[in-house]
Amino acid sequence: MTDSDDDWRRANRANWDERVAIHLKADAYDLAPLRAGSASLHPIEEAELGPVAGQTILHLQCHFGRDSLTLAQRGAVVIGLDFSEPAIVAARELASELGLEESIRFIQSDVYDAPGAIGAPEAFDRVFVTWGAINWLPDIGRWAEIVAHFLKPGGRLYLAEGHPSALVFDDEAAAEDGMPGWYVPYFHGQALVLDQAWDYADAAATIANTRTHEWIHPIGGVVEALVRAGLSLEWLHEHDAVPWRMFKRLQAHEDGMYRWPDKRWLPLSYSLSAVKVGTP
Ligand SMILES: C[S@@+](CC[C@H](N)C(=O)[O-])C[C@H]1O[C@@H](n2cnc3c(N)ncnc32)[C@H](O)[C@@H]1O
Repeated sequence: MTDSDDDWRRANRANWDERVAIHLKADAYDLAPLRAGSASLHPIEEAELGPVAGQTILHLQCHFGRDSLTLAQRGAVVIGLDFSEPAIVAARELASELGLEESIRFIQSDVYDAPGAIGAPEAFDRVFVTWGAINWLPDIGRWAEIVAHFLKPGGRLYLAEGHPSALVFDDEAAAEDGMPGWYVPYFHGQALVLDQAWDYADAAATIANTRTHEWIHPIGGVVEALVRAGLSLEWLHEHDAVPWRMFKRLQAHEDGMYRWPDKRWLPLSYSLSAVKVGTP
């Protein structure tokens, strides 16, 4: 298998298609609060996002729509987009079960094909992208242009992601004290082609489509891409917590986040808000 453009997309899609059924049953993706109309986002988004009622929101890489549906339950008009067919089928079923068809639509498309799949330039008050999204995309400049394409002037991107300075470490390269070891340069730039049969949300699951292609995007590159695309940075926060067990040494907390055991060694995640320049 060569690592051409088509190969990364096909491999990543097969991997994500397979994870949908696993995640629909996983405790980490518990859907009971959503079904009860009381779902929460993670504490970081809850603290930073603010009210969404009445806003139009594009949720890129929405998986099977748990967060998209949560935003719709809070009164937003939402489009969720993901390239995985099983994810979009499950998201549509959930929307219908929850009676949210009037306020939410799910579209199956690659992020890079979103302008053709959705059209609607400058239609959204917000673009929402969170937790394990941009690492699946090779070209951060093109991603930023797509975000800008969809935002109204004055509209905002909300992004929350794993911190790239933590992503250069890995448990496979663990040091003697059990801390994750350094395994890839921050400015690596190229695809990380991995073969992993485990799933982060269900330790008992085994994935057959193991091959994935991921990219570490330095924070400076993300901000620069957004500015070039016509957005202005409002704020950027670094956090000592992340919503999945990024490393074995992290400890689970009651708020659903994972943190270092004692010292706050490194940021584990970051979030930012960027506003599309122009007069609303
Ligand atoms: C870790 S999940 C994101 C979870 C998301 N924050 C949520 O609301 O549940 C990553 C998602 O990105 C999607 N994805 C990966 N590459 C993509 C691409 N090129 N275009 C569209 N979706 C993609 C996957 O199908 C998967 O659903």
